[in-house]
Amino acid sequence: MRILVTGGCGFIGSHIVDELVNDNHEVVVIDNQSANNDVFYINSKANYFNCDINDYDQVFELTKGVECIFHLAAESKIGVCIENPTLATKTNVLGTCNLLQAAKLNGVNKFIYSSTSAAYGNKNSPQIETMDVDCLNPYSVTKVAGEDLCKMYYNGEITEDDLRGSIKKLQDKVDAINVSIDDLSKKKEQDIMTV
Ligand SMILES: NC(=O)c1ccc[n+]([C@@H]2O[C@H](COP(=O)([O-])OP(=O)(O)OC[C@H]3O[C@@H](n4cnc5c(N)ncnc54)[C@H](O)[C@@H]3O)[C@@H](O)[C@H]2O)c1
Repeated sequence: MRILVTGGCGFIGSHIVDELVNDNHEVVVIDNQSANNDVFYINSKANYFNCDINDYDQVFELTKGVECIFHLAAESKIGVCIENPTLATKTNVLGTCNLLQAAKLNGVNKFIYSSTSAAYGNKNSPQIETMDVDCLNPYSVTKVAGEDLCKMYYNGEITEDDLRGSIKKLQDKVDAINVSIDDLSKKKEQDIMTV
């Protein structure tokens, strides 16, 4: 089977690439090696493309003839997402949407998305999918938005208006988190001044 792994040079994706190669699948990897990782893993039997998942045209070309996608490419560090919610939104939401749209148009049958337990806030393990979502930072907000996009594509046709509405709601949430972060920073500065 021809299988695409996004984020296949990263920590989790590289293990998936190794397993798929061992099972004799034809493996294509999309990874722009942008993570702040010490190592990017390469398996000599897979085909690597240094592509940004935000580049829709390239993503569209690379999903042609693919039967299954493991989507792991993400801004995966909570700290980076807090410092740069716009980058987190671009990669984790728009990038995921690019892959879903290309997968739909190219008739890819299976799409496996790696979400996060951070979707459930600080609740104790074990966390299960029926728990209420409780996003505490831009990482979980954007990962859950990616999950919602997967559900929308799975459930059927979506219109441009649906997408615009979801992206607007998401941007509002990220803006609200930005305001909270600003407030916290100001409070911290005031506390330091009064010590
Ligand atoms: N590590 C964990 O504990 C954990 C837990 C739950 C979920 N996840 C999710 O699993 C996935 C993989 O996590 P990981 O720990 O292996 O992260 P990682 O940072 O090691 O791997 C992610 C890979 O994606 C690539 N990437 C980032 N932005 C990209 C872009 N715009 N275009 C193309 N490639 C891009 C990076 O270069 C990196 O190699 C992520 O989606 C993450 O949210 C991770």
